[in-house]
Amino acid sequence: MSDLAPNFVVRPFRPSDEAAVYAVCLQTADAGRDATALYDDPALPGHLYVGPYLTLEPELALMLEDGFGVCGYALAALDSHLFYERFQREWLPPLRGRYPTPNGDPSIWSASEAVRAQFHAPDIFWPEPHADFPSHLHIDLLPRAQGQGNGRVLMDTLLTALRQRGSPGVHLGMHVANARALRFYTRLGFRELARRGKTLYLGLHLADER
Ligand SMILES: CC(C)(COP(=O)(O)OP(=O)(O)OC[C@H]1O[C@@H](n2cnc3c(N)ncnc32)[C@H](O)[C@@H]1OP(=O)(O)O)[C@@H](O)C(=O)NCCC(=O)NCCS
Repeated sequence: MSDLAPNFVVRPFRPSDEAAVYAVCLQTADAGRDATALYDDPALPGHLYVGPYLTLEPELALMLEDGFGVCGYALAALDSHLFYERFQREWLPPLRGRYPTPNGDPSIWSASEAVRAQFHAPDIFWPEPHADFPSHLHIDLLPRAQGQGNGRVLMDTLLTALRQRGSPGVHLGMHVANARALRFYTRLGFRELARRGKTLYLGLHLADER
């Protein structure tokens, strides 16, 4: 396993980290870049991409921290099928009351409207075969934490946790335009499983590497 850059630590999630995790999500939600200008409510991407993981599977939420605070995270769902079932049953209903369905032509929805629509009609997809890649993950680092090997350490730690829980494989979805992320995942051994619109799905077998 490689080393963290000096001044960075990886530690488990604590409930008091939630706002910082939402902030990292917002600042990396535009294909890896700052999406603050795209959202009229800064919590919107977090409600979709990080909140459910912190609430439903906090034991698989890792924080990257430096002297300024939380500057990255890696989050996972052990079994995507079970996760999305709880996501729809437990996580989405309270959001629906707070964020009404957007109106009009979906092809001209803003980023905020597109996320609000997901709260009412989530676009859930996982690449087949599910049995080979049942887990999925998200990883995001703020610019000050990138390019120093921290992403690799977070991923190694999360993949070890998934292996210890018996997962045979993991997948993720990424924006096709995020060239840096694709290089990063490819170096870690991920391979393309599917493409859907602007999302590329990659997978990694975990059982082979025990
Ligand atoms: C994609 C991401 C998770 C990768 O994590 P990372 O910590 O930056 O990755 P690494 O440091 O291991 O590698 C990134 C680059 O830094 C280089 N690097 C790694 N360790 C280094 C070190 N000690 N010194 C200098 N460079 C180093 C790597 O060679 C790599 O270069 P390359 O991209 O030109 O090939 C991170 O950059 C990130 O969160 N980006 C923004 C959000 C995002 O895109 N998330 C993924 C969404 S699917």
